[in-house]
Amino acid sequence: MRTPIIAGNWKMFKTIVEAKEFAQNAKAGNTSTGVQKVICAPFTALPALSAELAGTDIALGAQNMHFEEQGAFTGEISPSMLKEIGVSYVIIGHSERRQYFNETDETVNKKVVAALKADLVPIVCVGESLEQREAGETSDIVRTQTEAAFSGLTPAQVAGSIIAYEPIWAIGTGRSSTAEDANETIAIIRSVIAEKFGQETAQQVRIQYGGSVKPENIASYMAQPDIDGALVGGASLVADSYLQLVNGA
Ligand code: G3P
Repeated sequence: MRTPIIAGNWKMFKTIVEAKEFAQNAKAGNTSTGVQKVICAPFTALPALSAELAGTDIALGAQNMHFEEQGAFTGEISPSMLKEIGVSYVIIGHSERRQYFNETDETVNKKVVAALKADLVPIVCVGESLEQREAGETSDIVRTQTEAAFSGLTPAQVAGSIIAYEPIWAIGTGRSSTAEDANETIAIIRSVIAEKFGQETAQQVRIQYGGSVKPENIASYMAQPDIDGALVGGASLVADSYLQLVNGA
């Protein structure tokens, strides 16, 4: 049995004050168990959230990091800097980073390796664009991205990672993938993991769906056999809505 995981990706939203307010509301309404809860906040809000969420079962994630441990990399944050402030998850290879910040399959792989080495759980994003989907390339795209991201890793490292399937055309558009379509692609990703790392690893690794997930549609995704949770943008910004997603899972 894979424990479901609902991760909020706040992207570039929320000041420290707003993040603290979210944490206080989330703590007050957080009653459900059996679901792993993660909030991936902007770097600036992480220390305050870490203090505010200490002692709760809501874990902290970052939205990016560098793969080097230290050095002359102006503007970057290292894995151990994240660990130091209580972060335990890190999103790697989000399509917005691939699209706007030159993230490549190669840097994604380096970051996954560095995250695991630092004892951070990577949430590795894969997914096709609308053009690629319409050209029938979805399975090739997710195969290439998945193989590249986990290249050189051990089955145990892969089993301990999270994959988020986020079709780019469904992100922030209100146009979510049907649960059946999402499950089909996630099953393909799982079969790629099985081919490369064995059936046992494929059955252990958790794969989320992301793209216009809301409290109203979370149950349909969770009802699918291969979907183990969601990576949620917009609907994770309000504590009540985030908790509804958790309850729905
Ligand atoms: O990482 C989450 C994401 O990109 C989906 O965003 O706003 O469509 O839930 P949203």
